[in-house]
Amino acid sequence: MTSAPTRVTPAATDRDDGPSRTTRLNGRIGAVIEGVRLGGDLDAATVAAIRERVLAHKVVFFRGQHHLDGVRHEAFARLLGTPVAHPTVPSADGRYALSIASDHGGRANQWHSDVTFVPAYPAFSILRAEVIPPYGGNTLWVNTATAYAELAEPLRTLADSLRALHSNEYDYAAVQPDARDERLDQYHRVFTATSFTTEHPVVRVHPETGERTLVLGNFVQRVRGVSSRDSRLLIDLFQHHIERPENTVRWQWQEGDVAIWDNRATQHYGVDDSGDHPRVLRRITIDGDVAIGVDGRPSVLVSPRTVPAPPFGTPSGASTAGSPEAGAPGSAGSPA
Ligand SMILES: [Fe+2]
Repeated sequence: MTSAPTRVTPAATDRDDGPSRTTRLNGRIGAVIEGVRLGGDLDAATVAAIRERVLAHKVVFFRGQHHLDGVRHEAFARLLGTPVAHPTVPSADGRYALSIASDHGGRANQWHSDVTFVPAYPAFSILRAEVIPPYGGNTLWVNTATAYAELAEPLRTLADSLRALHSNEYDYAAVQPDARDERLDQYHRVFTATSFTTEHPVVRVHPETGERTLVLGNFVQRVRGVSSRDSRLLIDLFQHHIERPENTVRWQWQEGDVAIWDNRATQHYGVDDSGDHPRVLRRITIDGDVAIGVDGRPSVLVSPRTVPAPPFGTPSGASTAGSPEAGAPGSAGSPA
């Protein structure tokens, strides 16, 4: 953290029977929760309170969760929803924990929400710090709901009307220009083993809070219906508002930390400033709904026809397969 936490009045949704203390980190995003030992044995009231705080603060942090391993991490994740496999990248443990490691391409130093190249991208991500470098390696998050709310009214109206294509074929060379790095090349090959393209609304209506959030980040390729030049200008315009420092929180990791974020209302950025020091985190994502725009139109999988079944576990969108959009042509609701 770059500034000392300030104890503030709890959000209206705070509960007396939930986590013992929640401390906001600034006015727009981020809070630290103390007095909770995460695991699969948490009582329902505590889980509900954690969920409320994630929805209210967008990202919450827990220190000292050294007792968690892959099994306990997953057991806790199941209390928030259905863990979901990454569409292309194998997990670290043969189950749901994805390795976010500095030595094989896990330097996520581009603003993004996780896995937005599928229609039902994850609702929550739960990231656990195993190995932290002696300096640097912080992660930043932004609040894409406040970013939308603070747009001038004509820009909100414009954003509401736009749809954009997201793909996992992002331009990783833009931030990793050393194409001779074999490990990064290999990671990129795995990441893009299946090429996905999804059309999302630029503004989605959050299924739990009703807030409108901007859906952009590094998987965006272009805005539909405009020229490529105008597309880039529009993406840069809205992304500029998302990245304003006022919308951000920065977390300085310690081993044993856990961060939980609402992936539908945030973007994040892993700062690549630790040199060659190892940095290993484990991420489990929780399945989300197909995104819905302001006009009620759902996101649509453009290609492939369905989200292929991953080598292990539940594919994205499977847990919401009973939703109205699930059977729509081209949607991800009926994965193979
Ligand atoms: Fe990420």
